[in-house]
Amino acid sequence: MFKPDLLAGRRILVTGGGTGLGRSMGRRFLELGASLAICGRREAVLSETTAAFERDFPGRTRFLACDIRDADAVERMVARFWEEAPLDGLVNNAAGNFIARSETLSARAVDAVLGIVVHGAAYATLACGRRWIAASMPATVLSIVTTYAWTGSAYVLPSAMAKAGVLAMTRSLAVEWGPRRIRLNAIAPGPFPTPGAWERLVPRPDLARELEGRNALGRVGEHAELANLAAFLMAPESGYITGDCVTIDGGEWLKGAGQFSWLERLSGEEWDALRPRKS
Ligand code: HXC
Ligand code: NAP
Repeated sequence: MFKPDLLAGRRILVTGGGTGLGRSMGRRFLELGASLAICGRREAVLSETTAAFERDFPGRTRFLACDIRDADAVERMVARFWEEAPLDGLVNNAAGNFIARSETLSARAVDAVLGIVVHGAAYATLACGRRWIAASMPATVLSIVTTYAWTGSAYVLPSAMAKAGVLAMTRSLAVEWGPRRIRLNAIAPGPFPTPGAWERLVPRPDLARELEGRNALGRVGEHAELANLAAFLMAPESGYITGDCVTIDGGEWLKGAGQFSWLERLSGEEWDALRPRKS
């Protein structure tokens, strides 16, 4: 899809890069010539992912364990990565989420998700942005949000609030930092199965289909499809796109918004019967 050196010379930090979509995006960035920094809370997970990447792309992946809810820890992590070589890309991918009836949420449950998603993304973006501005470096930030950042969603209230916040950060800083040659964009994925998301968001195996097939294309996304979109948005060749959010959801949210989408349940005979009879 791309020239093989699309991201050559780029150094990209992917938060939550040890698992799921973060790992898939990281691998794609490496294939396209980038070097990678990844973080997450679990050192063993990061170490295993880094070892797998190093086997295929030697010398190009570094990891540090970091809880991005802690602003000082984020600052220390970014400083450590920078000491080796400046980063010029950041993917705010780390997230926390679970389903719950909102009236049962404890304060700590709300804080856990908002802390990871909105505070974590802000701390990482500001820690990198300050350095880019000080060094007059062009750079790119990509944040992974969801389509319910703008529709909202029942039963994932803290995540919906937090993703809306990350989208607001993307648009705000795209304008403020545009003159500094720092671009910020977002991707809103539909269903891309990962153990991290499915373990927390599918309450019963027989309900998985509700998450997976409720879109116009009737299938889940492939990680490669999302990773290619991320690579495109991180590449200098997409340099005139900033402040935007690209949806990659098989038409899921538009289908949900359409008042009459449920009419797909009608049979061909029922549709024929509805047509006016020619006399
Ligand atoms: C209600 C819950 C809960 C649940 C945790 N809590 N799970 N409340 N329902 N299912 C409450 C706990 O009781 C506690 O409150 C508080 O939240 C913090 O919980 P901890 O387990 O101590 O927190 P922590 O270990 O920091 O874990 C954070 C987490 C966890 C968010 C709760 O799920 C996590 O680590 N997630 C990371 C990965 C992840 O979520 N991936 C999915 C991303 S998918 P009390 O008051 O009891 O102390 C996604 C996109 C979705 O974002 C779109 C798909 C289409
Ligand atoms: P995942 O595998 O659970 O990824 C979440 C990652 O975030 C993990 O690597 C986790 O590592 C890290 N993380 C969580 N809390 C952290 C913290 N406090 N500090 C640092 N890292 C932390 O889930 P995923 O499905 O790949 O999700 C990736 C992104 O895509 C998320 O932003 C999610 O909201 C978004 N998304 C996914 C889907 C989907 O269908 N999968 C749909 C829409 C949006 P540790 O646990 O080791 O910290």
